Amino acid sequence: MVNKITVVGAGNVGATTAQRIAEKELARSVVMVDIADGIPQGKGLDQWESAPIELFDSRVTGTTGYEATAGSDIVVITAGIPRKPGMSRDDLLNTNAGIVGSCAAEVAKTSPNAIIIVVSNPLDVMCYVAMKASGFPRERVIGMAGILDTARFRSFLAEALDVSVRDIQAMVLGGHGDTMVPLISYTSISGIPIRQFMTDEQLQVHVDRARNGGAEIVKFLKTGSAYYAPSSGAVQMVEAIVNDQKRILPCSAWLDGEYGMKGLFLGVPCKLGRTGLLQIVEIELTADEKAALAKSADAVREPMSVVKL
Ligand code: LAC
Repeated sequence: MVNKITVVGAGNVGATTAQRIAEKELARSVVMVDIADGIPQGKGLDQWESAPIELFDSRVTGTTGYEATAGSDIVVITAGIPRKPGMSRDDLLNTNAGIVGSCAAEVAKTSPNAIIIVVSNPLDVMCYVAMKASGFPRERVIGMAGILDTARFRSFLAEALDVSVRDIQAMVLGGHGDTMVPLISYTSISGIPIRQFMTDEQLQVHVDRARNGGAEIVKFLKTGSAYYAPSSGAVQMVEAIVNDQKRILPCSAWLDGEYGMKGLFLGVPCKLGRTGLLQIVEIELTADEKAALAKSADAVREPMSVVKL
């Protein structure tokens, strides 16, 4: 357990993230901060009132200012406007860059030693904005996307094969978007390569569905985007950091030569521990996977070049 975790944004993703953090007792104090006066306070109080039933001692509160967030160990940034049907993640670019940039600057002032986990979209570019605006080193700015994309892929495989989600290992790399790169050669069921259960053609159906996983939910919800699985992904990262688990999870990290790339955030296998990003794990990729990752990097660099900082 750490002392304080702040969640920026008390919308569906932020509030669900705060709730999961509190229920797992990952921090003594969980603070939700949002500009919409009343929402973070109300949701925070409501969550705290669930504590005697759910049995957690994490004190959840909500606020509109950063004073109460001061000295946070971890800050999860979920602020931003969500996708509407038909909108691409990149449509959100400049609106969310402004929001995420100002939040990260506030965090740097009030919680200078925090580890920032970015959830806002377009994810990989928002990580870049948060790193620039906070001035934090890459060890302390990490993005959540690959865990979500991987979880979607795993859930589809579990359903199709009628096996436990627990036994499905997979890794989705690349940017969070249409160019994500599922690594089929590293996908297995209890260590048995997935290709012993499915043809490449069958696998492709699930790959495509995972690629469009965010849009599939937006299409159903109409007025917002996914939040149960995204918050689970963010909290898995929080937990790995708080408990110094040294888990290897697909996260968006600032590349500095890894995978032959430099100067952008991209989804890669990351080892997470108490100080944040401990290591980017470089794994062997096929020629096709390398090409797909390069294409994914291009899809991140393009919005990066137009984002206003
Ligand atoms: C998704 C959006 C939030 O993947 O990016 O659900």
